Amino acid sequence: MRVVILPNAEAVARFGADLVVEQLHTRPDSVLGLATGSTPVALYKRLVQACRTGRVSFSRARTFNLDEYLGLERCHPQSYHQYMRHHLFAHIDIPPEHTALPAGDTEDAFAACEDYERRIRASGGIDLQLLGIGRNGHIGFNEPTSSLGSRTRIKTLTQATIDDNARFYKDDECQPHMAITMGIGTILEARRILLLATGPAKAKAVSRMIEGPLGAFCPASALQLHPDTIVAIDQAAASNLVHGDFYQHVEKEHQQLLGRTGRHSAPLSLPTTKQ
Ligand code: PGA
Repeated sequence: MRVVILPNAEAVARFGADLVVEQLHTRPDSVLGLATGSTPVALYKRLVQACRTGRVSFSRARTFNLDEYLGLERCHPQSYHQYMRHHLFAHIDIPPEHTALPAGDTEDAFAACEDYERRIRASGGIDLQLLGIGRNGHIGFNEPTSSLGSRTRIKTLTQATIDDNARFYKDDECQPHMAITMGIGTILEARRILLLATGPAKAKAVSRMIEGPLGAFCPASALQLHPDTIVAIDQAAASNLVHGDFYQHVEKEHQQLLGRTGRHSAPLSLPTTKQ
């Protein structure tokens, strides 16, 4: 895992957006795995801006989202279909037929899961998968004790996740308790993974993911098995790491090496103070 500790949430969004732009410059027909939640909102804002100013085009890209609530119509304001439309798809030049989310509103949700896996495979697989992390260590809706080899399937949400997401629902609004999510095995097949985490509420989950034992109790710890995962976090999310100073040292050396060999990497503004 490459651990990149940045000064604040804005720097994390900039780093992430630059990496997506770089991916699309290298391969304009990239397959992107996308995430929802609060964390990627600032990154999507930057991508919209980059597209508007002609710095990047999504016209040949394809996207697959991680998850969708089960039983919510895709036009429901809290559905991830609407989230993606609102934060990204309506503002960039991606053809709507190039975007995909699990069909949480279909009659046969089991068939929808199999179909999603088939479509990801048919696309050639995900080049860059964007992830957030839940306070309980989930990625997508792969809650603690999810099988580390799981594929796209229906998951029941934990009370912790329901509570975390309650802020998006009005008091009298029915909040879904189930979802369709890419599995951990599905996520691990992405060629490159970029996980973003910001704020002190994520510090514990981040340290369990990076420094804790590999296990289903912290689903994100499965990323320790992935050969090309970048974890971009702010100082607050990094605050529980035992080896935070070491990761910053490694990153500095990595950047210097890239500079000497003339290779490129997402531009970095490393913090000037020690955490
Ligand atoms: P958040 O969610 O970005 O809203 O904190 C992350 C997640 O649950 O994966």
